[in-house]
Amino acid sequence: MPEQGCVVVVGGTQGLGREVARHYVERGREVVVSGRDPGRAEAVAGELGGKARGIGLDLAEPGQLAERLAGVEGVGHLVLAAIERDDNRVSSFDLQGATRLVTLKLVGNTEVVHQLVPRMDPDASVVLFGGRAKDRPYPGSTMVSTVNGGVTGLVHSLAVELAPIRCNAIHPGIVGDSPYWSAKGEAVLERYRSEVPSRQLTTMQDVVGAVVFLLENRSVTGANLYVDAGWLLQ
Ligand SMILES: NC(=O)c1ccc[n+]([C@@H]2O[C@H](COP(=O)([O-])OP(=O)(O)OC[C@H]3O[C@@H](n4cnc5c(N)ncnc54)[C@H](OP(=O)(O)O)[C@@H]3O)[C@@H](O)[C@H]2O)c1
Repeated sequence: MPEQGCVVVVGGTQGLGREVARHYVERGREVVVSGRDPGRAEAVAGELGGKARGIGLDLAEPGQLAERLAGVEGVGHLVLAAIERDDNRVSSFDLQGATRLVTLKLVGNTEVVHQLVPRMDPDASVVLFGGRAKDRPYPGSTMVSTVNGGVTGLVHSLAVELAPIRCNAIHPGIVGDSPYWSAKGEAVLERYRSEVPSRQLTTMQDVVGAVVFLLENRSVTGANLYVDAGWLLQ
């Protein structure tokens, strides 16, 4: 694993990305966290402490990414964790929201990789976030399910194109203590708990452990790892 080089977490201002950033800050690594608003990203970096710094970029505006990433050098690990949450049903389709989400996860993330690959050593690694909504859809998940399915193909292609740089994807299920799901309340979480064999929902720390595995295990590339407490088994 590259002990050298910074860890870039796109979508690192909250939720799962922020916990991955915290993991590497606590290990003394240089960490770059991004969100849409540079002020917020800098504030979050200040809270994380250590050698963290924040930058602003909008993945749904891929044309601006080269400029936004200009100050990032020597990348050891790249984590692409951003999402714009939506509840987009085909019956009342929000075209603008759909276009932003597809652009963000599939085009914006790929442009970030394009920009940063020349600043990576051969032993660097990339992790993209998909999600189990691709296989277990719910009303309103149409675009989320679609882009998370797209991540599966994207990571296969990146693993071949970027070799020997490794590239993997993680697909969490319901992460019960993430900001998005914890806000839904205990009754909702209990229903999902009853759907997984372990009767315990995935935690943010479970996801961090899996991301670290994908980033650091030198024999894993092109993997789509499900971290979902066995959600689809019953
Ligand atoms: N939470 C779960 O249970 C779960 C389950 C399956 C998959 N996932 C996947 O895991 C990843 C992280 O999820 P999360 O729940 O931790 O997300 P989250 O709490 O909603 O955080 C999203 C992050 O993305 C950033 N972001 C939003 N729009 C952006 C844009 N247009 N350009 C750049 N950055 C943007 C946000 O930063 P600002 O707000 O500061 O801009 C924030 O840092 C996502 O890819 C999600 O699909 C999560």
